[in-house]
Amino acid sequence: MSDSQPIGVALLGLGVVGSGVAEALERRRDALARSVGAPLELRKALVRDLGKPRPFPLPPHKLTLRMEEILDDPDVRVVVELMGGETPAGEHVRRALERGKHVVTANKELMAKDGPDLLALADSKRLNLRFEGAVGGAIPVIGALSRDLLANRVRSIHAIINGTTNFILTRMAEDGMDAGQALRLAQERGYAEADPANDVEGLDAAYKLAILATLAFHSPISTRQVYWEGISRLSPQDFRYARELGYAIKLLAVAKRDQDGLEARVHPALIPEAHILAKVGGVFNAVEVAGDLVGRAVFHGLGAGPAPTASAVLGDLVDIGRMLLVNAEPPKAVPMDRSDAVKDMSQVSTRYYLRLHVPDRAGVLAKITRVLGDLDISIASVIQKDTDPVTQTAEIVITTHPSREAALRRSLAMLGGLDVVKEVSNMIRLEELPS
Ligand code: NAP
Ligand code: HSE
Repeated sequence: MSDSQPIGVALLGLGVVGSGVAEALERRRDALARSVGAPLELRKALVRDLGKPRPFPLPPHKLTLRMEEILDDPDVRVVVELMGGETPAGEHVRRALERGKHVVTANKELMAKDGPDLLALADSKRLNLRFEGAVGGAIPVIGALSRDLLANRVRSIHAIINGTTNFILTRMAEDGMDAGQALRLAQERGYAEADPANDVEGLDAAYKLAILATLAFHSPISTRQVYWEGISRLSPQDFRYARELGYAIKLLAVAKRDQDGLEARVHPALIPEAHILAKVGGVFNAVEVAGDLVGRAVFHGLGAGPAPTASAVLGDLVDIGRMLLVNAEPPKAVPMDRSDAVKDMSQVSTRYYLRLHVPDRAGVLAKITRVLGDLDISIASVIQKDTDPVTQTAEIVITTHPSREAALRRSLAMLGGLDVVKEVSNMIRLEELPS
């Protein structure tokens, strides 16, 4: 153990992640002290309800309902924000920085919405604001983009960055479990957000993509510029047909830069079964970064849950602790020296999978292909599935070559109006990945 003065730490929030961090601070006290060079001392935890049972209970004198107690304690050098949401977490982070305290947060919503401003405030005060736990759980991808890959011109990011939905999609694909059952299991294990709608609808991944894209492209990208769509339209047939075509279905986050600008989007996508991202199962996350020097680098690890997130939060804490011991100033933030336009989704070009419910009779396919042809949407494959002799209906599954989203959307409206189409049952984007 070190003889140095302890470094005081306060937690804002003692829920799933906060309890994981408190437990690791306590149980790994000596090992952390050896890594830092001084003990990390948990002085206070801000909560809403003092009497609530907690997965890792703290002595009552360490709990508080008042942020001032933390701000006024000169021995608290680092504030760790694990409350979630924008309000009041953002205000607390701002006040902590203004009072000269370093901050660690795992709050993707806050960093996606206010990250550039908060980082500028931290920079102006020569303080650290670290957020490794905000994206990818245990995976050290923020550090990689902020430091290790900084010399690259990043071309693209393809990522699976929501553990809850990846867990749900894996259970649906592998065990035929329904989405509701799988979500309940994810909630029990502490993967889902307090309001799981953000996970299921793709907003959680959109926050994370905004953070990654901002760092990768050195250009502030807000969540408003990210197109997002969730997993609720996926059905067991889509998994079955995708598998027969050689694809897996994942909630994919994509950020790309080309000569026309940037793309930033989150949506379900068919990806080749042989690709490394297709093999990312359960609550695991993965981020593939393609850059001019690195080629392709893939980061893979547990994306949610108390222990993996504590791993990232404690990594940031240890780093700050080490700097405090030698009075080192924080490194400069990633420069935000570009302002590339982010394309509207209607201008993005991808391949598509379409599933149509049709009457099983002559002439149906001809009418469908004419609509697509007239809009310059080139077909890559067509298969007829699930022919039902009783109802005399079938499903047609079409994959296309790359087409503009605007044209594809137009075609969906026109197909839906054809007398030979009972229903446009689904459209899923089919992503070509770097190889
Ligand atoms: P959680 O279980 O809901 O915990 C939130 C904690 O914050 C609770 O202890 C709550 O106090 C406290 N809190 C909330 N509002 C408060 C207020 N106004 N004043 C005082 N205390 C307040 O959330 P979580 O899952 O731990 O997530 C925390 C953060 O980590 C979020 O930003 C989340 O996105 C992020 N994150 C979560 C995971 C994960 O796997 N869960 C992974 C990575 C990042 P009470 O307990 O008294 O109600
Ligand atoms: N709810 C998030 C997820 C937690 O499922 O990925 C990790 O940020």
